[in-house]
Amino acid sequence: MDTRGRDLRGKRAAPAGSLVRRLLLLAGLGCALLLIAGCGQSQGGQSTLHPASDQSRKILHLFWGMLAAAVVVFIGAVVLLAISYRRRNREGIPLVEAENEKAVSSGLVVAFGIVIPVACLIVLFFIANIGVVKATDAPAPGQTKMNVTVIGHQWFWEVRYPGSAAVTANEIHIPVKTPVNVTLKTADVIHSFWVPELNKKVDMIPGHPNTLELYADHVGMYRGQCAEFCGLQHAHMSMAVYADPPAKFRAWLANMAKPVAPPASPQAKAGEQVFLTQQCASCHTIRGTSARGTIGPDLTHLQTRNTLAALTIPNRKGYLGAWVIDPQHFKPGNKMPGLNLSGAQFSNLLTFLEGLK
Ligand code: CUA
Repeated sequence: MDTRGRDLRGKRAAPAGSLVRRLLLLAGLGCALLLIAGCGQSQGGQSTLHPASDQSRKILHLFWGMLAAAVVVFIGAVVLLAISYRRRNREGIPLVEAENEKAVSSGLVVAFGIVIPVACLIVLFFIANIGVVKATDAPAPGQTKMNVTVIGHQWFWEVRYPGSAAVTANEIHIPVKTPVNVTLKTADVIHSFWVPELNKKVDMIPGHPNTLELYADHVGMYRGQCAEFCGLQHAHMSMAVYADPPAKFRAWLANMAKPVAPPASPQAKAGEQVFLTQQCASCHTIRGTSARGTIGPDLTHLQTRNTLAALTIPNRKGYLGAWVIDPQHFKPGNKMPGLNLSGAQFSNLLTFLEGLK
């Protein structure tokens, strides 16, 4: 290749700069596609694109409307930019033509720089506030039969059912096709409760309870996530909403309200003693025993939950044992210390925990 950018066959070689630009563009498009693919998961995948309630459908329609408006404005701006680029530095055109062009340019600036953006913003403001924000607000207290209280903790969700003794964590059961009024509180810092397939996100503010309506129009699991940075394990602060058929929900709630049954075997009995005499009982409550701690989640019916540590790991024997021995491995910074137990103590404790149904 010679110094003028031609190879030996006389063809012009592509300058290195433009090749890099093309590669960057391709990489950018690839990343955008991957991001979009991430939005398209199926139900239960925490996707704003799979609404399962009127509220989340309204939010999705607003999103598509705003995206369409933004695309039209963006394309208009690019077209105007291209026109101005072609017309710059034109010299020697007749004076009348130059004056006309100046007037047209000023008109375009006023139309596209002021009139159209202001009109777009006013229309979107009214659609968003009247059509969506109001429609996604929780109903006034007393207008829904079903109430749930969710309290954010670093880093799990405490779930209470007013009027029932039921207390659980991270996995919230509601009856399907039933409006549920959720009161949102926090025990420490600001968290934000967000189940994208069901409704908008609402912050949990210290000293200021907020409310949110949860409604699911079909049976299933809807994943949610804390949406406000709340410390080291913010990313491991997920929750699941299970919308159950009404009869199944009533049976679940009745079971959750009961204290735990007495240990079924000598090993489980010995495991209960390990729980009550080691640090466990000072942080966790198990209704029906003397364990009354309030720092960690209520464990009364631990085995009715599918996950541990706010959906961080599955609730299976191996994971449960590993979590008890070394919780800091899965969730560094969480408040649970690892336990230093003998083999027999560990085995008995696991047997006891597996009996919490
Ligand atoms: Cu709780 Cu982020």
